[in-house]
Amino acid sequence: VGHIDDVQELNKAKPITVPERFVRDMADRPKLTENISTSTGIPIIDLSKLMEGDRDERFSEVMQLQTACEEWGFFQVLNHGIDLNVLENMEKVAKDFFMLPLHEKQKYPMAPGTVQGYGQAFVFSENQKLDWCNMFALGVEPPCIRNPKLWPSNPANFREILEIYSREIRELCKILLKYIAVSLGLKGDVFEEMFRVAVQAVRMNYYPPCSRPDLVLGLSPHSDGSALTVLQQGKDSSVGLQILKDQTWLPVQPIPNALVINIGDTLEVLTNGKYKSVEHRAVTHKEKDRLSIVTFYAPSYEIELGPMPELVDEKNPCRYRRYNHGEYSKHYVTNKLQGKRTLEFAK
Ligand code: SIN
Ligand code: FE2
Repeated sequence: VGHIDDVQELNKAKPITVPERFVRDMADRPKLTENISTSTGIPIIDLSKLMEGDRDERFSEVMQLQTACEEWGFFQVLNHGIDLNVLENMEKVAKDFFMLPLHEKQKYPMAPGTVQGYGQAFVFSENQKLDWCNMFALGVEPPCIRNPKLWPSNPANFREILEIYSREIRELCKILLKYIAVSLGLKGDVFEEMFRVAVQAVRMNYYPPCSRPDLVLGLSPHSDGSALTVLQQGKDSSVGLQILKDQTWLPVQPIPNALVINIGDTLEVLTNGKYKSVEHRAVTHKEKDRLSIVTFYAPSYEIELGPMPELVDEKNPCRYRRYNHGEYSKHYVTNKLQGKRTLEFAK
């Protein structure tokens, strides 16, 4: 991605329209009324009730978690136990990074066909439409997936803050996976044991305002390849995330200090489709920018995955083939957002 496709740079000329490469086909364009929602929104899970509630509270919260994963694939988690300073600091350094001059950010370029660094991910052809978004992505754990050259020295405290942030989010992922296992009637530590040394990556998405939010997408529709994704939305950000539910795009209304969690392809496959990895996208706003900080939590690349035997029976025949997670991850970034479809057995 050159200078010409960097949306923050494009915006500097205060354009009243957008370059052709960003203009979506009619059917893919967002409807601007979508974000004025009357719906109740995605389910809300109170983690303190799951962890410390009395028997009844714990039971009812586990049931809500089950419904959220089965019917929505998305929920917001309240009382997640992460110090708000940790979230605020991460938001600040991410925003500060995106506000740096382009040449500063381009010291950490995302090489074509890779997913780490600054740029636009998932660009695989010359005539593909581009997202109205700048991204900065880094592998975090285990240390062998890190590319230290891409960890910025500016903002000065970026590395230290990302390190602390990632540790906290990792703990949250482990806790959530434990309750997800419980909600499936499985032992609490099944995923932790299965995943071995889990892979964790972070991607920061910055969506500048767009003069024609009706023509562009901030982020193309996709499902995540992860097991679990944790999404933090910037405090003053516009509404931007939308999920596909019953063939309609529903906005996710940000709740202050809550985190948005979604089920990724890995958990969909492991649960033989019981829990859903739901398609989502981001839209832009005419005046407001938006920042999201996304953590992907996934099994070790070495492991072989497929539907868990406990979730396959006569009524629920095996829906996905077995695969190597590392192969899938590699494939995921080059497969034109086909994602989990490539794992499904023909119906
Ligand atoms: C994502 O799906 O990676 C991010 C969507 C968002 O910005 O909310
Ligand atoms: Fe996503």
